[in-house]
Amino acid sequence: IEYDLLIVNGLVVTDQEVREVDIAIKHDKIAAVEARGSFKNAKAAQVIDADGGCVMPGGVDAHVHLEEPPLFGKGSSADTFETGSRSAVCGGTTSIIVFAPQQKNEDTLMTTLKATHAKAEGKCYSDYSFHLLIANPSENALSEFPALREAGISSLKIYMTYAALQLNDGQILDVLLAARQHKITTMIHAENNDLILWMTAQLEKRKMFQPKYHATSHPAMAEVEATYRAICLSEFIDAPILLVHISSPAAAKHIKQAQDRGLPIHAETCPQYLFLTKADLDKPGFEGAKCVCSPPPRESEQDQEGIWRGLEDGTFTVLSSDHCPFLYDDNETGKKTCITDEYPEGQFKYIPNGCPGVETRLPLAMSAERLPLTKLVEVTSTNAAKLYGLYPRKGAFIAGESDADIVIWYPQDKLQPFQLKNEMLHHNVDYSPYEGKTFKHWPRYTILRGQVVWDRDGGGLVGQRGQGTFLHRGPSSLKGSLSDEPWDIRGF
Ligand code: URP
Ligand code: ZN
Ligand code: ZN
Ligand code: ZN
Repeated sequence: IEYDLLIVNGLVVTDQEVREVDIAIKHDKIAAVEARGSFKNAKAAQVIDADGGCVMPGGVDAHVHLEEPPLFGKGSSADTFETGSRSAVCGGTTSIIVFAPQQKNEDTLMTTLKATHAKAEGKCYSDYSFHLLIANPSENALSEFPALREAGISSLKIYMTYAALQLNDGQILDVLLAARQHKITTMIHAENNDLILWMTAQLEKRKMFQPKYHATSHPAMAEVEATYRAICLSEFIDAPILLVHISSPAAAKHIKQAQDRGLPIHAETCPQYLFLTKADLDKPGFEGAKCVCSPPPRESEQDQEGIWRGLEDGTFTVLSSDHCPFLYDDNETGKKTCITDEYPEGQFKYIPNGCPGVETRLPLAMSAERLPLTKLVEVTSTNAAKLYGLYPRKGAFIAGESDADIVIWYPQDKLQPFQLKNEMLHHNVDYSPYEGKTFKHWPRYTILRGQVVWDRDGGGLVGQRGQGTFLHRGPSSLKGSLSDEPWDIRGF
């Protein structure tokens, strides 16, 4: 036997090109990518006839919340490492990067990392790594950055909003300086917390409590201001950042201008900003709660259009899910905790922020048939691998170097378009914001390091719990600090 697996007759798509080539896999790696028919006489244990379907590097979803405690003071994550990673592979994603959440009253990051390892170990269907979520950048916590790097963690997330997590600008500067020193990428959730609190009070004074007012309470201006502030802080320290879940085209404009000035500013957007609008929060009763996330889906199709353009023109480095689900029916008494007798339509400020989406991310992007396929691979896989230190092991088909993580799509006209039902999904969530939406594409196979883990026509989920392994990550290979010199106060 020369090869363990051959994938033939597919349209192989990378971030660079679309080619009619065949792929040979040996053990868990891509062994060769050659002209159509090259492996005709090769001996292989298994052959998949991809038959005109697209064949892409497995998805890398770099924004996933699993098993988080109620950090936002409103309920804990619905998905565990097991159910979240299971959902990922069924939607074509083979690597996830999940938050390891430090709490404000904790002084260390290594304890958080260890506890998160314990939750994930032996449970995952996909490969996985962690971003440290820093809520308390104490001197001790910052002194652990070298240990984090040793442990294979090269990114962290900080918040400019949420009382339980928010850092002030001085704390953000502390984090950026330490991150710069140790080649760690800082992800920033940029919203102006005071503006949100002020708007919330204004709305409540007027007895405007329904789910749709969540969007009103988180206006685009809160995102615009904080995004620009984050860019300024990053430029001041000369530290690379990634602005997470950007929803507003006006915020994207600030990002584009910074990038055009050559700054190491990276950005992420998410399907909820391409496929949902504020109107989705205005469904009857409490239904709108299913689309409550922060930042919220914006006003109109024009906003969605602005975000698509940001993907096309490279403003957005990555398209991640921000999978952060809570149960819609969230308590034992059969009554949702944010609905009370006094507030029968609920109170938006008590609705946990976040939607499920790790499984629908790639199928939504494919079904939109909007991005060139190379761009789609770039933003859903390759760039995430590069930014978070996984390239070329992930996000590519480089013979001898890349893991054999592959998603194979049905060829055009081999999949009847269908309307999504939540029961088709593999998460542990009792709804999807995309219920009823028509999907034209869905992965036919997902392959993790040479093993088929999703076979839609042959058993569905065929991977095993525990098959996913921890990914030890190096530094980003995208644009970093402009200067290699240490940051020096005398430079000012
Ligand atoms: O609403 C959201 N995005 N919830 C998840 C937490 C976060 O800020 O990413
Ligand atoms: Zn966030
Ligand atoms: Zn998030
Ligand atoms: Zn099949």
